Amino acid sequence: MKIGEIELGQVPLFLAPMEDVTYKSFRYMCKKYGADVMYTEFVSSDALARNVKKTRHKMTLFDFDRPVAIQIYGHDPEAMVIAAKVAEEAGPDFIDINFGCPVKKIVRRGAGAAMLLDLPGMQKMAEAIVKAVSLPVTAKTRLGWDQEHKNVHEAALRLQDAGISALAIHGRTRDQFYSGDADWTLIGEVKNDPRIVMPIIGNGDIKGPVRAAELLRQTGVDGLMIGRPSIGRPWIFREIRHYFSTGEILPPPSVTEVVENVREQLHLSIEWKDDERRGILQMRRHLARYFPHLPDFREIRTGLLRAETIAAVEEYLVKIIDRYQGMHVDYTDVSLN
Ligand SMILES: Cc1cc2nc3c(=O)[nH]c(=O)nc-3n(C[C@H](O)[C@H](O)[C@H](O)COP(=O)(O)O)c2cc1C
Repeated sequence: MKIGEIELGQVPLFLAPMEDVTYKSFRYMCKKYGADVMYTEFVSSDALARNVKKTRHKMTLFDFDRPVAIQIYGHDPEAMVIAAKVAEEAGPDFIDINFGCPVKKIVRRGAGAAMLLDLPGMQKMAEAIVKAVSLPVTAKTRLGWDQEHKNVHEAALRLQDAGISALAIHGRTRDQFYSGDADWTLIGEVKNDPRIVMPIIGNGDIKGPVRAAELLRQTGVDGLMIGRPSIGRPWIFREIRHYFSTGEILPPPSVTEVVENVREQLHLSIEWKDDERRGILQMRRHLARYFPHLPDFREIRTGLLRAETIAAVEEYLVKIIDRYQGMHVDYTDVSLN
């Protein structure tokens, strides 16, 4: 598939944008394991207009990231146009608009998934942004606001008319937040509508290679986007790609390999945060996910999540190797929430 003139190959794997997750060190790990396309965490158009340092910092991109998008959100079309231009200056390969965030404080202000309640407004905003920048503009949204208002099909047609270059669809409504199972039926319907020519990227609960292949077969989407399943398992991209090209399931990583991976990500977090404690805090969400299903792990897990120095984390990592050496980490049926 292509986004604008960017050739992404067959069924590219996208790392989903995730606030407080898809920062530099995690993007680096996912890229290392085969993510084809990545996004920054979303950035607020209002915060960009106010030149908030932390928001600008989120837009810092690196060579390893490419192709990469900066994702913006907001409710005011003018502010969004300005934000898109500022984002363009940061040098991404494309710009993505968030029309899917379910969080109350964002939808209350008419942004994110709230745009699904006003499709003409969504279309106008997208059109204005497409006109204002020279990079391709993509969008990411959900099935609709709630079960009674699943209007993603109309949204897709309108966004295509607005000049959007690709659309990612998360198979949940806004009122589901992250609960229940993602439903890919409508994603398939949109993809298979002959009027839709822009690439469609499917998203939601791609928990492993077999599921990825099933969803691809079911819907024929152009690309697959993976969010939560990659947390604590950045090699999921390699696992999926390997399965697609060989039909074989890669063996799960050994505990020692996972520990090595944690060390690498932790050191990158600390180096790039330029602060030991903040780098470790940033890692906690990942540490909580790296060792699912290990027997009698509770005490180590608690210690690991409380550690505030590299030395303390290292002490627990050594304990993990001592106790579980030779075992593999099993990611089947890991809860995503
Ligand atoms: C912690 C977290 C932060 C997220 N932040 C964003 C975001 O900034 N922008 C966005 O479009 N979606 C965001 N999402 C939604 C994900 O991109 C994705 O659509 C969702 O998690 C479903 O995919 P998954 O089942 O692969 O996780 C976030 C999800 C999580 C769990």
